[in-house]
Amino acid sequence: MSSAAPVGVFDSGVGGLSVLAELRRAMPHEEFLYLADTAHVPYGARSDDDIRELTDRAVSALHARGVKAVVVACNTASAFSLSHLRARFAMPIVGLVPAVKPAVEATRSGVVGVLATPGTLRGTLLADVIRQFAEPAGVQVLQAVSRELVPLVETGQADSPQTREVLRDVLAPLAGAGADQLVLGCTHYPFLAASLQAEYGDRFVLVDSGAAVARHTRNVLARNMLLTPHTRPGGVTYLVTGDLEAAQPVITTLSAQNVHNREDTPAEA
Ligand code: SIN
Repeated sequence: MSSAAPVGVFDSGVGGLSVLAELRRAMPHEEFLYLADTAHVPYGARSDDDIRELTDRAVSALHARGVKAVVVACNTASAFSLSHLRARFAMPIVGLVPAVKPAVEATRSGVVGVLATPGTLRGTLLADVIRQFAEPAGVQVLQAVSRELVPLVETGQADSPQTREVLRDVLAPLAGAGADQLVLGCTHYPFLAASLQAEYGDRFVLVDSGAAVARHTRNVLARNMLLTPHTRPGGVTYLVTGDLEAAQPVITTLSAQNVHNREDTPAEA
């Protein structure tokens, strides 16, 4: 495997661009190959087997294009596929888990909210971090689920009246229960920051995994002697499985946004 090869980044759609921004910030000389499975997004409402199969197909496609490592920049895909992918591919695979740990450390009210897709809430990774970090600290974790938010981000409506209405409905119980930290358990959700601010002001501190995943990926590449030898700025090649014309303007808009929240440890690679 060549250290000059690109790093593959995979998401069900455009949400992983929030992680890609952090990866580029942490490793400005790396080349990235970003694959958005826009033909099959959203993954969150799919069956476990479906998610596993689609993720396997996407990572195989990146592997066939010669990437040296893959970041699964999708919480739902990570929840069902990481161990399987690591057994199948010799290259490093980095995944995401919801950033419960820093939220638990920062909460003053003792109540933390997690906003995620049905798939991520069903997977074992979230349950593991709650057991590992929240339960010993006596912190209550409240979960909120939405099937609508990912399609809204995918169609360029991250900051819109409809999105604010969905957020108002799904987060009302968390706000009512005194949650002061909101873990964004899906890589699409950092793009909701403006809608969240409009609806809830500073009610919640928003916490996501992007910066920690980027730092972890850099460490994994270093450990495997895979950091690029190049010193010129790296670039990104985008691949989509669905309609390119529909995806292009959304990718352009979201790539230009500077999403930067707090962080946590991703799944070990
Ligand atoms: C989805 O495709 O439903 C969301 C992806 C994620 O969990 O990050």
